[in-house]
Amino acid sequence: MDPIVIGIVGAGFAASFHVENYRRVPGLNIRIKGVTAKRAKSAQTFAKRHQLETTYDSVEELLTDPEITIVDLCVPNFLHHPLVIQAAQAGKHIVCEKPLTGYFGDGTEKLVGHKISRKAMFEHALKSADEMIDAVKSNGVIFCYAENWIYAPSIQKANNILAQSENTIFRIVAEESHSGSHSAYAKEWRYSGGGSLFYKGCHPVAGALYLKYNEGLRKEGKPIKPKSVLAQVANLTQIDSFVHEDKKWVQDGWKDCEDWGTMVITFTDDSIAQITAADIVLGGIKNIITVYSSKSVIQCNINPNTSMLSYVPDEQILGNVYIREKVETRAGWQLTNPDEDWMNGFPHELEDFCQAITNRQAPKSTLELARDILAVCYGAYISAEMQQQFVLSNWM
Ligand SMILES: NC(=O)c1ccc[n+]([C@@H]2O[C@H](COP(=O)([O-])OP(=O)(O)OC[C@H]3O[C@@H](n4cnc5c(N)ncnc54)[C@H](O)[C@@H]3O)[C@@H](O)[C@H]2O)c1
Repeated sequence: MDPIVIGIVGAGFAASFHVENYRRVPGLNIRIKGVTAKRAKSAQTFAKRHQLETTYDSVEELLTDPEITIVDLCVPNFLHHPLVIQAAQAGKHIVCEKPLTGYFGDGTEKLVGHKISRKAMFEHALKSADEMIDAVKSNGVIFCYAENWIYAPSIQKANNILAQSENTIFRIVAEESHSGSHSAYAKEWRYSGGGSLFYKGCHPVAGALYLKYNEGLRKEGKPIKPKSVLAQVANLTQIDSFVHEDKKWVQDGWKDCEDWGTMVITFTDDSIAQITAADIVLGGIKNIITVYSSKSVIQCNINPNTSMLSYVPDEQILGNVYIREKVETRAGWQLTNPDEDWMNGFPHELEDFCQAITNRQAPKSTLELARDILAVCYGAYISAEMQQQFVLSNWM
């Protein structure tokens, strides 16, 4: 079997869990050859830590390596568009982190004060997505959208249960929240393309769309798509009393991105999804989706879950042991996650991508789905700005 040779772009958080989880993919000949990052030093440190063969001085150098078959983009959101186009033109298959793309201005522009209408941002973001789709199609490469919620074993199991009988999903309630991103890029719109509702909300939106799309495919051979969205956003870390608190447990310093958002998506069959995303939630990451259908109620506790409970009176007792993502303390009773990556669906996601590329077929998490998620999130921003429902139908 020909090896799948991977080049990683980015040496941060996402790059690490990608490398670790490619190594868990069974039955394929996968070689993670090298990495490039913004700074040569961080690429070298990353390569050493993960025992990669080489580093590249630039994306261009990585793309000209004839051995590389997959370029895995683990870079800030504003780089997804240019690097996807560059990689496609170089004839490389692509794995790209979420969200697909967005509106980032010209890289310098401050978006505070809503100088640009959300509608203009929406149109720009979809144009950006369409250019990516064109580049992928015209160069005949396979694109894999790294949205792990689609691969989380609990969401796959939910889809399986829902598929066993005629079943109507009435309502989906889903949330991704925690106490604030570790990445400085998340706090500025020109790098992130949006705040909590976009950066985090794209995960639960993906879960909801995936389940409704599958319901439609089972029933009528086509996905049940969103038709409108109603949303609200806020900057809760700017509440005066919080600003004056001495010790802060949640991230602050958001430049021009919201730290809380919620949206109600209405689908073409009039079912709904209630999505919340926030950067102000203590107690570790909260990734939960509940599906209320005509024949079942299914709650997917991606994280936290009660797979394992542990208690220590003092963190030091744990040594270096990891408990779960973004908990502020490891002491006391803990919803310890024995295999967080597995619960997140990371190994399943990368296995599907490698299989898709090997077999020249679309992965479960496609570019078209990524574009729809983008349209819903940016449509939500228009709704929040206009204080009214935004009709998506013409854009889906
Ligand atoms: N699926 C998930 O659960 C998940 C979790 C975290 C992040 N992400 C996504 O992963 C992507 C990266 O986020 P992160 O948390 O790893 O960020 P990070 O800040 O930890 O790392 C970003 C990396 O990008 C590199 N980089 C920046 N500019 C570059 C350039 N011009 N050329 C090459 N490399 C460059 C930096 O050197 C850095 O190593 C984002 O799109 C984010 O949304 C997904």
